[in-house]
Amino acid sequence: MDADIEISKKSAAEKALEYIRDGMVIGLGTGSTANYFIEFLSRRIQEEGLSIIGIPTSKRTEKLANGLGIKLSNLDHHPRIDLDVDGADQIDPEFNLIKGGGGAHTLEKKVATASKRFIVIADSSKLVNRLERAIPIEVLPSAREVVEQELIKMGGKSVLRRNFTTDGGNLILDTRIEIQNSMNLESALNSIHGVIDNGLFARRRPDMIIIADGKNITIRKR
Ligand code: 5RP
Repeated sequence: MDADIEISKKSAAEKALEYIRDGMVIGLGTGSTANYFIEFLSRRIQEEGLSIIGIPTSKRTEKLANGLGIKLSNLDHHPRIDLDVDGADQIDPEFNLIKGGGGAHTLEKKVATASKRFIVIADSSKLVNRLERAIPIEVLPSAREVVEQELIKMGGKSVLRRNFTTDGGNLILDTRIEIQNSMNLESALNSIHGVIDNGLFARRRPDMIIIADGKNITIRKR
C-alpha cells in the first residue's frame, strides 16, 4: 500500500464531507476512496446526529455502511438522490470517467444518474490527459462469446476478469478500445445485445471532482 496515495484518498474523502447537509439522501460509491468517505460520513452522522439516508452502489458498500450504522435505502424507494460521492479509475480533462475497477459500475452509473449532484473523489494519479485504461464491460454470462466477437469487430480486445462475478451475477470483460468520442462509444458498447453497462461515464459526468495529492486538495467544477 502506497502511504502517499492512501493519504490522498483520505484527504479527498474528508473534503467531500463539506458538501453534506442534514436530511440528505446520499449515493455511496464503491472502492477504497469511497470507503474512506463512508467511514468519515458515519462518524459525522453520529457526532452531529444528522439524518442521512445512504444509497449503496454495491453489496460491499452496503455491508460496510450497514456495519457503520448508516441508514440505507435503494433507488426504488429513493429515485432522487441529493448527492452522490464516488471514486474513479481515470478522469480526463472534460471529466469523462472510466469506472468499474471494482466491477460495480452498473449500479454506480444508475446512482450517479439519479443524483442532483455527483462528486468524484480521487488521488491525483487518476487524472489523465486521455482515457486509456481498459473499459470494464458487464455482460450476461450466456452472451460472453457473442459480445467478445462484437467487440473485436469494433476494434476492441477483451480480457475476461478472472474469478469475478458482479453483484448481478454477471461477468466483466475488461476491454481495450480506442476512445475517439466517449459519448458515442458509451452508447455503442451498451447497444451490443448481452451488455448490461460499461464503465465509461460520458453521459453522466461528475459536477465536481475533488483531487488530492497528499494533503493538497484541488477542487474543479464543470
Ligand atoms: C468501482 C469503481 C471505483 O470507484 C474505482 O475503481 C476507484 O476505486 P479506488 O477508489 O479503490 O481507487 O469504479 O467499481
